[in-house]
Amino acid sequence: MIGKHIHLSEIDSTNDFLLRLQNSGENIDNYVVSADFQTKGKGQSSNIWHSEANKNLLFSVVLSLNFLEASRQFILTQAVSTAIIDVLENLIPNKNFSIKWPNDIYFENKKIAGILISNTINGNYFENSIVGIGFNLNETVFPEWIPNPVSLKQISNTNFDRESILFQLVDAIHNKVDLLKNTQKAKKINSDYVSKSFRFGKICQYVIDKKTIEAKITGFDEYGHLQLEDKNKKKYCCDLKEIEFVI
Ligand code: BTN
Repeated sequence: MIGKHIHLSEIDSTNDFLLRLQNSGENIDNYVVSADFQTKGKGQSSNIWHSEANKNLLFSVVLSLNFLEASRQFILTQAVSTAIIDVLENLIPNKNFSIKWPNDIYFENKKIAGILISNTINGNYFENSIVGIGFNLNETVFPEWIPNPVSLKQISNTNFDRESILFQLVDAIHNKVDLLKNTQKAKKINSDYVSKSFRFGKICQYVIDKKTIEAKITGFDEYGHLQLEDKNKKKYCCDLKEIEFVI
């Protein structure tokens, strides 16, 4: 379902490239933009997204979402994250891939992929969504400042073909997002997300309000807040800026 695929050898950011196209009046629905290298790759919370040139996947896919209420941003995050997990599990079965809330893709305690979504809203509905994905494929030496990176090559000792995995991911994302049109199937996406959630139900350490607590993740509300409970049954409900995982 790829509308148009643009591959660039170098760009500031594939997300920003699409935003500029959209602002210039072009209909970018279903476009996919990929790059060998980004000079200003963006991560969540104004972080930089690092990727060595020609090694990994750096791409953005535009989803046309005019059927989806704007309040359902979290189910979109869940759909994209579980689509990536499906592709990973198909590529390398029997490995421990998980989703670190809200949308970091992990192998054991290390991050293999990140997602950055920017939405255009029209009234109560989405118009479209630019879903940017950085996926560590063949890089084996990461700069020290990156907290806990890992690539597919490091996990499996094999080099992966970037274009083939790009198309698998884009297909999986489109197919998963299509399921959001059906309430029952959307519920299944939510339960798949829960079952793949990093540390779900396990007592682990988190930092909230500069204090380290021991608690377990118990769920996610429909707006995507993280729900936890500590040993004394004290409950917490956090957004992204309010909590840090101790890894
Ligand atoms: C994160 O911080 O985990 C999100 C990382 C998202 C990186 C991708 S790479 C392709 C797209 N273009 C960007 O500038 N960012 C996203």
